[in-house]
Amino acid sequence: MTALHRAHPAEEPDEPRGEIPFTKADFARIAAFAHREYGLNLQEAKKDLVYSRLIKRLRKTGCPDFASYCDQLEGDPNSPERVELISALTTNVTHFFREEHHFRLLTELILKPRLDKLRAGQRLRIWSAGCSAGQEPYSMAATIFDTLPEAPRMNIRILATDIDPAILAKARAAQYPADEIKGVPDRLRGLMFERDSPGASTQQVSARLRGLVHFAELNLMTDWPVRGPFDAIFCRNVAIYFDKPTQARLWQRFAALLAPGGLLCIGHSERLSGPAADQLATAGITAYRRPGAAP
Ligand SMILES: C[S@@+](CC[C@H](N)C(=O)[O-])C[C@H]1O[C@@H](n2cnc3c(N)ncnc32)[C@H](O)[C@@H]1O
Repeated sequence: MTALHRAHPAEEPDEPRGEIPFTKADFARIAAFAHREYGLNLQEAKKDLVYSRLIKRLRKTGCPDFASYCDQLEGDPNSPERVELISALTTNVTHFFREEHHFRLLTELILKPRLDKLRAGQRLRIWSAGCSAGQEPYSMAATIFDTLPEAPRMNIRILATDIDPAILAKARAAQYPADEIKGVPDRLRGLMFERDSPGASTQQVSARLRGLVHFAELNLMTDWPVRGPFDAIFCRNVAIYFDKPTQARLWQRFAALLAPGGLLCIGHSERLSGPAADQLATAGITAYRRPGAAP
């Protein structure tokens, strides 16, 4: 299910309609822009939902109609409204240890076979692409610590990227409401969070975990200023917004950045397609591996 199939929690059902017209041409222009710049796949059937998401942005920005809203988006590549558009059309929903089987694969396929080499200083690079508010990369960091408590002294880094600077600010702050940490296994809580204060309304991810993660803003549709190879790439529940050719190109770019034996994990409703499907071997549920021996 994509974000655009679900009603936004803040969406009032009786949103005043029709006060600003949203023509087929307006929708086509927004859809073409969102596809060209961000790979988003907006079908005509989503026109009403796109309207209800974007009418709020028109009100907020004071744009009198959709044509002037589009002019604003298209006219300035650095317009902060571009990020607001992405936020309005996608979701940041995530949680700790989401699709937990992928973290087990990280341990079994990537970490455990290389313990000695990692202890001897071998490099390990992991990428959380579309990391949202940070729960995914911090779950990776906890997984690493669980197996290798000496990780901070090793050559191990997690790159965590997202297109949305506001969500990255939350990720860097690393403070989560207590009810959002329910997915964290009990035995990892002491490791993951600063001294547990029972009853505290928020929990701060521990400094040792935060030290492993580097956050950066990155639109997956543009060039990637990243240096591979990566031993594992998680890009989960991001490509659901993209059309099939865009997805296939994305998988291929990830496959090219994987080290031999490297692991690619994608979202539960996503499927590997295009050339990457021939280049990578299945390693688990929505998990794939580049053939060859790990370094
Ligand atoms: C549903 S969250 C997925 C978070 C996490 N990977 C997970 O599976 O729980 C999708 C994230 O993808 C990001 N995103 C959407 N389009 C993107 C793009 N073109 N480039 C980079 N990130 C994008 C959104 O900002 C959002 O934070």
